[in-house]
Amino acid sequence: MFFEEQGAEFFEKDAEKEYSGVSSDKTKLLFDFALSASALRDIDSVLEKTAYFFCKILDCDRASIFIWDKKKKKLWSKVALGLDEIIELEPDKGIVGFVFSQKRPVIINDPYSDPRFNPDIDKKTGYKTKNIIALPLITYSGNIVGVIEGINKFEEEFDEEDIKFAQILSTYAANSIENALLYSEIKRTQEEIVVRLSIAAEFRDKTTYNHLVRMSIYSYLIAKEMGFDEEWCEKLRLAAPMHDIGKLGVPDRILLKPSKLTDEEFKEMQKHTIYGYDILKDSDIDILKMGANIALCHHERYDGKGYPRGLKGEEIPIEARIVALADVVDALLSRRPYKEPFGIDEVVDFVKKESGKHFDPKVVSAFLRIIPQVKKVLEKYGVD
Ligand code: C2E
Ligand code: SIN
Ligand code: SIN
Ligand code: FE
Repeated sequence: MFFEEQGAEFFEKDAEKEYSGVSSDKTKLLFDFALSASALRDIDSVLEKTAYFFCKILDCDRASIFIWDKKKKKLWSKVALGLDEIIELEPDKGIVGFVFSQKRPVIINDPYSDPRFNPDIDKKTGYKTKNIIALPLITYSGNIVGVIEGINKFEEEFDEEDIKFAQILSTYAANSIENALLYSEIKRTQEEIVVRLSIAAEFRDKTTYNHLVRMSIYSYLIAKEMGFDEEWCEKLRLAAPMHDIGKLGVPDRILLKPSKLTDEEFKEMQKHTIYGYDILKDSDIDILKMGANIALCHHERYDGKGYPRGLKGEEIPIEARIVALADVVDALLSRRPYKEPFGIDEVVDFVKKESGKHFDPKVVSAFLRIIPQVKKVLEKYGVD
């Protein structure tokens, strides 16, 4: 620790020497940016922070960031030029396209006489572009992720000194942007795999994609309403679809029976909770661990009369108390081979009646407060 602190101090001094005088403020801003950007994972926050620091360090009015979309082969921007819409550009047109394809920075101090400049956006926004600096966003490992553009330096014109600072900033920015894009791709992939595997597990049962999406959204909304933080709620949304994965282990003659189950058969059926737990329990992945608890405990009841262990009240993990309600609500709203669907008012009456019996009263009252949102989900995803 001691040595690390010393190291940081020496580095800061060296950096100050190199960019002496007025530039030491900028060096400090670069450090602030590097520190705060590396902690961010979501792309919008990374872009916002980058644009903010770019303007401060280069002392200019606006910054726009254009991200390369490999699939569409276009550069897109959200934080661009004071427009709210997302802009898409061709990778070989205009100043941004030039910087992207040549992979080198440019300064343009008289844009209206530069043939690469497109004055349409100025016309649309009523903004007057006086000078431009634009740099490719290239990561440490040499990947180009897009272009950053600064517009209208306040006091003077952009110069070589600006390029030096902008290059340091844009390397940090490129790495943060690449990380954020990878992170969101991983999350999207993970979510789709979880839902699709859960459907595979319930294929025989004809549980639909929409049932899993609906019940996981209700779970998320209830958790949010109960005051859990966004990260936990999001984890719950991803873990909830796995609750019935253990139905994989239930024989067809029981799972597919078109009529009421005998007591013996229902006992077999109840084992889906334990099978699900066994499939997921040894994982190191947070979402799967939460999925294991949910699989095991989603048929426990608040009054202790549930299965498989007859846990009571707070002994049941909160994620399972939430999923228990979300799952039953959607099961009741759905048509099953062995029963007709309930209407929403019937379901609300049922849930109220079961408060403190089947369901945790705190979960029930959160659910009752989000009924308008539940109705919207039903409109969007339909009832089976
Ligand atoms: P599922 O059909 O998805 O139902 C999930 C849970 O929703 C049920 O858990 C139950 O708590 C609730 N539920 C569903 N339909 C009704 C209903 O008509 N009335 C009431 N009061 N609650 C309802 P449960 O009972 O532990 O059942 C677990 C799973 O066992 C069910 O999942 C289903 O796959 C199967 N199952 C339960 N009963 C029968 C049955 O009579 N026949 C057949 N073929 N399968 C059944
Ligand atoms: C479902 O069909 O997804 C719910 C069934 C259950 O909770 O056992
Ligand atoms: C659903 O799980 O929402 C549909 C159930 C079914 O069709 O049996
Ligand atoms: Fe279940």
